[in-house]
Order: sequence, then structure tokens, then C-alpha cells
Amino acid sequence: MIRISWTGNDWARRSGPKADLRAFAPAAIGEVRAFHATIPGYEPTPLVGLRGLAGRLGLGGLFVKDESYRFGLNAFKVLGGSYAIARLLAERLGRDLADLPYPVLTGDGVKAALGDVVFATTTDGNHGRGVAWTARMLRQKSVVYMPKGSAPFRLEKIRAEGAEAEILDKNYDDSVRFTAEAARKAGWIVVQDTAWEGYRDIPLWIMEGYGTMVDEALQQLQDAGEGLPTHVFIQAGVGSLAATVQAVLKARLGDEAPKVIVVEADKAACFYKSALAGNEAPLAVTGDLDTVMAGLACGEPNVIAFEILRDYAEAFVSCSDPVAARGMRLLGNPLRGDGAIVSGESGAVTAGLLSLIMEDPSQKKLRQALGLGRESSVLLFSTEGDTDPERYRSIVWDGEFPSVRSW
Ligand SMILES: Cc1ncc(COP(=O)(O)O)c(C=O)c1O
Repeated sequence: MIRISWTGNDWARRSGPKADLRAFAPAAIGEVRAFHATIPGYEPTPLVGLRGLAGRLGLGGLFVKDESYRFGLNAFKVLGGSYAIARLLAERLGRDLADLPYPVLTGDGVKAALGDVVFATTTDGNHGRGVAWTARMLRQKSVVYMPKGSAPFRLEKIRAEGAEAEILDKNYDDSVRFTAEAARKAGWIVVQDTAWEGYRDIPLWIMEGYGTMVDEALQQLQDAGEGLPTHVFIQAGVGSLAATVQAVLKARLGDEAPKVIVVEADKAACFYKSALAGNEAPLAVTGDLDTVMAGLACGEPNVIAFEILRDYAEAFVSCSDPVAARGMRLLGNPLRGDGAIVSGESGAVTAGLLSLIMEDPSQKKLRQALGLGRESSVLLFSTEGDTDPERYRSIVWDGEFPSVRSW
């Protein structure tokens, strides 16, 4: 069943000190992108303009950044892991990152100076694949743990990057704790894409790493002669990605920044629940976090991301699985003249949500609250392709998770 719940963000309208966005300022993100540009095969991923769909939905413009093209890894996540590991190595070696472009980082000198290290992480699939890929490039080892219910195909992709990987009998957040403890005992370096008290540097670098994607999108819009978006819908698991999108836009554009709407799976909607409770402190969702949006199946917010989204986001929306399924179908089956996008379960939920906000009369209140209409230009990030191909086909070809109309 289609279920959409939402809340505005009164906290963001309060006066008083707000989260520090300096790590996401244009100069900082410029350095991040300069590093990524030294990785062989780097290319900005496509920004697809969906003119037909925008017209049909009653929007002025609709643009989707297609991260299925990212370094051949089918998801945006490697941007974070690669940059964080590079920053970490620069720090360990006492060097400036600018002096460690990718060819130097992966060269014999760095390997000899560093010796053998092991990078450890927890993942639904995409982040771990990015960490394993980076470790392989550096000729180092990686250990990757996945929560219960993870797709075997995603596990195999991580193993194919040389990682020692296994699926645990724990949910995502408990797996993160398991990894941290195993790493402490074994002396591994945890490269986790979420922060908690006492563990902030690496996740902040991972978040900065995602900034390349936002930087590219803004440049692509500008190069195409398009104005700034008025609205950005961004999906959240632990919220690292959403907070980066929010922070980069706000740090760069100030009052001109688009409204950022944070979108979660209803079984793991920790930001939505925290906002409903007034956003004073992050609330956790526990249990199995049983959603088809595997990348969003995280019940505990990243503490850095929480502060940023609490202070700046426009609204928080929680969606059931058929919303994501609708997004996958509509991006994969475009209107005439629009390009097709292969978008996975966690990649497509924002497209499904946007289409329902604009088409379903029962979403009129949300449409009005967000001020969406012919004057609006919306930017979405399809953060993954078909990272679980069997699931993708079951949804897109065979209609799993039907989004039956009630109007
Ligand atoms: C495809 C995809 N999209 C979005 C996200 C959400 O990112 P975050 O956990 O930083 O909120 C993830 C996280 O794994 C993901 O894999």
C-alpha cells in the first residue's frame, strides 16, 4: 500500500546558533572534487532532464542525477569511502592531500610507508563495495559486514573486490556496533559512513566526499543554462548523504538554496520520527528495519547529519515500499523524449514520492506545504542503479510492490 507521512521542520525556523557548514563550503568541496578527478575513469555522472515528466506532473523542471554511472560501481557511495580513506592516509603520512593524487596514493611509496592495514565497515552493499574497491586499489585488505537480509548478489560484488565479507544475523545499527568492536580487537581501521559520539572524523570526510556529486549537479545545471532548483528531494538512511546535499547547497547558495526535503523508508524513518518529536535530539528506530530500500534501512541517525538536517531541512517524509517501486518503474519507462534511468530501490523513492505528491489528490496538503507547481524546478539523485538485479526485475518487470492508485 502507498503510505506517505510527513512533517515540516519548526526547529529550523528557530533563531540561535546553527550547525557549522564550513566543511561543505565551495573551496572545501572543490578540493574533494579535485581529488576524485585524479581517480582513473572519473567522469561526472549524467544529469538527466525529464522535460516530459515535469510537464505531466505540473512542474517547471525535473532533473535526475544518475549515479548508476559512478566509476562502474552502480552507486554514488564510493565517493565517500575513497575520499575518506585518502584523507586518512594523508593524515597518517603527514602529507597534504593535494600532494597525494590517486596515482601517488596507490603507488609503491605509499604502500611501503603505510605497511599493511585493514579497512573494516558495515554496509547494505553500496558503501562496502566502495570501501572494498578503494582498499583493492591501495593493495590493502578490507573486511565488510552486512546486516541480516542483505542481498547475496551484493555480498558477491563486495567479495569480488577482494574483501572478506559476510552477512550477520543483526540489523544495520547492531552490525555497525559489531564491526567497531571487532575492529577494536583486531586493530583494523573503521571506515563507517555514520558518526557517533567519539567517532566523527572519518564520517565527516565520507560526507564531504559525497559533495562531488552535488558540485557536479550544480555545474551541470549551470552549463545547461538552467536556473537553480527550487526543491531537492533526497533520500536518507543514516542521513550522511542528505546532510551533505543540504550543507553544500546552503553553504554555497545561502538564502537562494533550494528547499531540501528528506525522504525515508517508513520502516526506518528515524529523521521523520525525530522531527515529529520536535527535533530536540535524534530518535532511533529499532527492530528488523524491514524495507526493500536496503540502503535506507538504518534506524539511528548520523549525529553530524542530524544537526545539519535539524537546523536546515524543509520537511521530512516517510514512504512505504510501493513508493520506491513506483519511482523505479517511472524512471525506467520514461515519457517520449525523456531519457530512461535504471534506478534501484533506494535510488528511486524520491521520484516515486514526487510523482505521487503531484498526481495523487490526497497529497494536496503536502504539495501546497512545499509550494510545488509550474514555477518549481526539482532536483533528484538516483543514488543507485540495479544493485540487486533480480529484485529490480521483479519490481519493474513483474510488478512486485504494486502502487495501486486510490484516485
Ligand atoms: C543507494 C543509496 N541511496 C541512499 C543511501 C542513503 O545514504 P545515507 O545512509 O548516508 O543516508 C544509501 C546508503 O547506503 C544508498 O546505498
